[in-house]
Amino acid sequence: MKNIAVLTSGGDAPGMNACVRAVVKTCLSKGLTPFGVMDGFQGMIEGRIEKLGYGDVDNIIQRGGTVLGTARSQEFLTAEGRQKAIAHLKEHAIDGLIIVGGDGSFKGATILAEEMEIAIIGIPGTIDNDIAGTDHTIGYDTALNTVVEAVDKIRDTASSHHRVFFIEVMGRNAGFIALNAALASGAEGVLIPEEVTDIQLLVKQIKEQNKGKRSSIIIVAEGDDGGGAKEIMEQVRPFMDGYDLRYSILGHVQRGGNPSAFDRILATRMGGMAVDLLVQGETNLMIGSNGDRLISQTILEGINHSATLDLEKLELLKDLLTKG
Ligand code: F6P
Repeated sequence: MKNIAVLTSGGDAPGMNACVRAVVKTCLSKGLTPFGVMDGFQGMIEGRIEKLGYGDVDNIIQRGGTVLGTARSQEFLTAEGRQKAIAHLKEHAIDGLIIVGGDGSFKGATILAEEMEIAIIGIPGTIDNDIAGTDHTIGYDTALNTVVEAVDKIRDTASSHHRVFFIEVMGRNAGFIALNAALASGAEGVLIPEEVTDIQLLVKQIKEQNKGKRSSIIIVAEGDDGGGAKEIMEQVRPFMDGYDLRYSILGHVQRGGNPSAFDRILATRMGGMAVDLLVQGETNLMIGSNGDRLISQTILEGINHSATLDLEKLELLKDLLTKG
């Protein structure tokens, strides 16, 4: 193992820079040459692979986004695209590749590893936290805190105006951000893809909860089966005469911002461990966290399973919302 390349792929997530920094610095400390692939697999296809030095990763641990850039490459899904990517990896004699991204990115990497001799290690990086085999993905903690801060702010205006707010949060097809943001912000309801949405029940709950209160906040996961925040609001409207309803879609603000200390530490540890695994001759592994410990499992296990949301938290939230 001499030349190790790192790339970030899929949606950017706060903490990706901390991870890239750790990969580069760990490589240098072990006498290996680190390379950065720009804009994920698309940059690999286009040959945008650069040697990285100590100075290239200075002052990035605190920055959101990814200095390497990222993309969701359609061309990489084609055999032709991958052939170009392989040629560029060979040009630079890359023998180890570290992919920071979601399960789609891991899938891409495993196909690559079938088509050329290269060792690959996956690091889970996405705000959605929807990857099996890890308690936390890089970026999730920061995004969750961003959401909670935004919900607190909306609460101020909702309370001032006696309003019911439906707040849509990201998470793709998973409810990690929604459920945990609801718990942390004291929301009066949450709709997540993991539970079928019942509009009549929701109306009843909002009315019950709203009694004696100046505001209600319902967190809606973007992947909910009942629709987004606007659609949910329109569905409850006919049954909520006299209530002042509003919706808010938090959007991409959830992906940006300085990573939390938690994400920086997680990302740094994962980046260091990825290099160690490659040096030990390992391949096709995905790093994860289990409590405060870092673990590894085969990338395939990560790809073939879905991350499971702790539904006991949903039960707890419901208990907290039941006035008795
Ligand atoms: O996977 C991260 C994520 O932000 C999801 O929560 C969201 O559904 C998606 O990416 C949005 O993707 P894009 O930025 O490509 O619109």
